[in-house]
Amino acid sequence: MLKNLVGNNIKFIRTRNGITQDELASLCNIDRPQISKIEQGKVNITLDTLEKISNSLKVEPLILFNNNKKIHPFVKWAGGKTQILEKLCKYLPNSFNTYFEPFVGGGSLLFYLAPNSAVISDSNTELMCAYKCFQNFEDFELLKKELRKHEENHSEEYYYEIRNMDKEEDFNSLPIYIRAARMIYLNKACFNGLYRVNSKGYFNVPSGKKKEVKTFDEENFNNLYKYFNNNKITILLSDFEEAVSKKANKNDFVYFDPPYDTLDDKNSFTSYDKNNFKKEEQARLASIFKKLDEKNVKVMLSNHNTNYIRELYKDYNIHIINAKRMINSNGNGRGNVEEVIITNY
Ligand SMILES: C[S@@+](CC[C@H](N)C(=O)[O-])C[C@H]1O[C@@H](n2cnc3c(N)ncnc32)[C@H](O)[C@@H]1O
Repeated sequence: MLKNLVGNNIKFIRTRNGITQDELASLCNIDRPQISKIEQGKVNITLDTLEKISNSLKVEPLILFNNNKKIHPFVKWAGGKTQILEKLCKYLPNSFNTYFEPFVGGGSLLFYLAPNSAVISDSNTELMCAYKCFQNFEDFELLKKELRKHEENHSEEYYYEIRNMDKEEDFNSLPIYIRAARMIYLNKACFNGLYRVNSKGYFNVPSGKKKEVKTFDEENFNNLYKYFNNNKITILLSDFEEAVSKKANKNDFVYFDPPYDTLDDKNSFTSYDKNNFKKEEQARLASIFKKLDEKNVKVMLSNHNTNYIRELYKDYNIHIINAKRMINSNGNGRGNVEEVIITNY
């Protein structure tokens, strides 16, 4: 665990500083293959080596043991990648310019990397309203006030009253902080932290029957506000293709985490909104992956390990990992599933 933690921290700080493994190797006079092994947590390192590396990265040695994440997701999200972050980090590129996450969801990797320059997007309107609130002081303050109101008023009846708001005609013209607070409150109070809408687009997850609901962590919220305001972060509500097609360029890094391809047992949760992400969508995504590859953009994608996905990405590097599935359609299918991490580098 400790070797992994130190290795991941070294890789994270090096990547964030835009330094390649070769550059770090020559800065601290260590072979590049050795740096690679250190970052993968495969070797024990001496205190001398640790000091050389921390000097080269211009950080205090103790930072390399830091296990505190300063910002983390503000919603629980189906398909969220918190459980496999360490595995994902092993396959990150050595360096990149702007970070793109076009299926941002709860943003596990975004918040873990906390890049200085990023373009994030998702097709879920309510979710993107929430992200936007972190970029504007007034909306941010109103969002917190509204969330406190939901916490105080919470009851079974109140949950369904708030859930039904999307059936009202003017719902789409409500201020973004009202829609964001509703989405966050429902996410915390509903059954299993699921986001699911019916064929008409109305949120339809039943109440989680909780006596009390805590909708946000004040410290995390404040850190998120600082992050979104002190860095160059573009927040879009868009389809994945539009989010990257013109904007991502050579040496940018795109992480695609689409809704999962359906497993053979057909019971897995793969639907987030009224537009299901079908095989044709997976194929459209694969063609965008290819176009970005041709532009020398660094691309990483995660999905289920299915025949269809392996066939779509057969020209790239396919890494198979085990992941713990936390949410599925009936809430009792928690267990291990195989996933793939695909990279073009
Ligand atoms: C697997 S989740 C992403 C999880 C996220 N990486 C996390 O850690 O929480 C997939 C996301 O894709 C979004 N989505 C579905 N279809 C989309 C589309 N056509 N364009 C953009 N986003 C889409 C869903 O709203 C959902 O948030």
